[in-house]
Amino acid sequence: MKLTTTAVLAALGLASSAVASIGRGVPQDISHIPSLYQRHRDSGEYMRIVHKRGTPTEHLQRRAAPTDEASAAKISDPVAECTAYNLPEVAAIANKFPKPWENATIVSGDSEAQDVWKTIQGSGIIPTSVKPKGTANGDFSAFTPTYDKTDPDCWWTFNGCVKPKHDKLPADTYSCPEPSTWGLTFDDGPNCTHNAFYDFLLEKKQKATLFYIGSNVLDWPLEAQRGLVDGHHLCVHTWSHQYMTALPDEQVFAELYYTAKVIKDVVGVTPTCWRPPFGDVDDRVRGIATGLGLETVIWTDDTDDWQLPPAGTKSKADVDNNYKTIIGKQSASGGNIVLTHEINDATMQEFMGQYANIQAAFKHIVPLTACKNQTKPYPDMDITYPNFADYTSGKIDAKGLPSGTTIKASDADYKPQLAASYTSNGGAQATGGSAAAVTASGSIDKAKGSSSSSSSSTASKSASVAAFGTCSMVASLVIGGACAVASLFV
Ligand SMILES: *[C@@H]1O[C@H](CO)[C@@H](O)[C@H](O)[C@H]1NC(C)=O
Ligand SMILES: *[C@@H]1O[C@H](CO)[C@@H](O)[C@H](O)[C@H]1NC(C)=O
Ligand SMILES: *[C@@H]1O[C@H](CO)[C@@H](O)[C@H](O)[C@H]1NC(C)=O
Ligand SMILES: [Zn+2]
Repeated sequence: MKLTTTAVLAALGLASSAVASIGRGVPQDISHIPSLYQRHRDSGEYMRIVHKRGTPTEHLQRRAAPTDEASAAKISDPVAECTAYNLPEVAAIANKFPKPWENATIVSGDSEAQDVWKTIQGSGIIPTSVKPKGTANGDFSAFTPTYDKTDPDCWWTFNGCVKPKHDKLPADTYSCPEPSTWGLTFDDGPNCTHNAFYDFLLEKKQKATLFYIGSNVLDWPLEAQRGLVDGHHLCVHTWSHQYMTALPDEQVFAELYYTAKVIKDVVGVTPTCWRPPFGDVDDRVRGIATGLGLETVIWTDDTDDWQLPPAGTKSKADVDNNYKTIIGKQSASGGNIVLTHEINDATMQEFMGQYANIQAAFKHIVPLTACKNQTKPYPDMDITYPNFADYTSGKIDAKGLPSGTTIKASDADYKPQLAASYTSNGGAQATGGSAAAVTASGSIDKAKGSSSSSSSSTASKSASVAAFGTCSMVASLVIGGACAVASLFV
């Protein structure tokens, strides 16, 4: 039986309004979509802001540059916040990474990255039938007319597909299972002017999941450290923010690998989740992400806040209205994951302005760790985040966090871990680390999926998971050598 995505999602119990917003559709008018992000790659004003070696103005030269997270977090003048600084420990590792805002490729001579890439390629997790599409800045106009309308690649950009059509790939996380819950996520940070916004979150006792761009982490390392020190949950948002389904395999790998690695080196944790820029993901890209231990996170609702002026082309009233619609949709059957941005002052101000409205309508506003009961999102650090019950009862702080004076960038040993490895029984139980992350997303599907069509596909997918048996292949990537068992596709 063939079902449309809409029918499948409806069968899974999502409100039809959520269905409408889950897929953005193939962008018809791409002229303004890349323009905001294009600035990341041009040589104009944006590069002067994001590059570390700007020339400090005179009054700032008299002020000491921040040397640790604690001192950076105290700066309140936005011009000072965005004034370049130089940390010796970051300068020492910068040549291990692609250049900020340039296409990521494997850095010449990086044999560790080469080895990880070969292992992932050899694992068979990347479906070979799925080919790159369109262009890196999101022009799919030559590709889409030739694309099979049954969406064999599970291409989110095409119609919002979140359940991979290829074996071995876990479903995306896109909603929170608990009702009246707003899954709080901010993309595109760390932004150099974020102190007022992060102060606001501290004051409101609110944590979020932050999807950091690798280039921003290298350019603004102390700002990235603040995300963890403040108790937020960190995930990957690629190195140079392009349409991943357009890039060749190795570039997709490098975009994800170096972003996870820079978060490990600068902040000290290995992330296990990522969000595709523009939501642009298909099973080929999912395969590479899964190979790196990164769970794919989409959203149910999009505020379109990045289109706020002056950077974007929509009015504040339009974006207020988007928030209003999402706020009005809170549902008794399941929670939303909402797309909001740290990209600039306008988006951060907008959220702060809307926060009271969200609180008034939703019972809970939670980071994805709480949304999914995921207490150990980083396999390499003993940091424990509160589960849903603890978080919503007010115990919002993670345990084991570094402090603003002890956290320090270093040349750390980044070891990616497959999102899930499998045993021959297909996995009935989950163990810790990132395998649990995937299990958590599996259980979201369980909470949502009660239709018969979903249970029959469960059976066939479990069988193919059983056949996969990558445990030994994976062992070299798994920290501590443990071969975890994950229950997928339930
Ligand atoms: C980045 O890589 C893609 C894919 O190889 C290519 O089409 C694009 O032109 C590159 N962009 C830049 C700025 O080099
Ligand atoms: C951060 O926000 C400022 C102010 O809105 C903006 O100028 C800048 O481009 C943003 N980006 C980064 C990486 O800080
Ligand atoms: C979290 O765990 C608790 C206790 O095991 C359970 O009752 C609840 O349904 C779980 N919630 C989510 C969001 O998984
Ligand atoms: Zn983004």
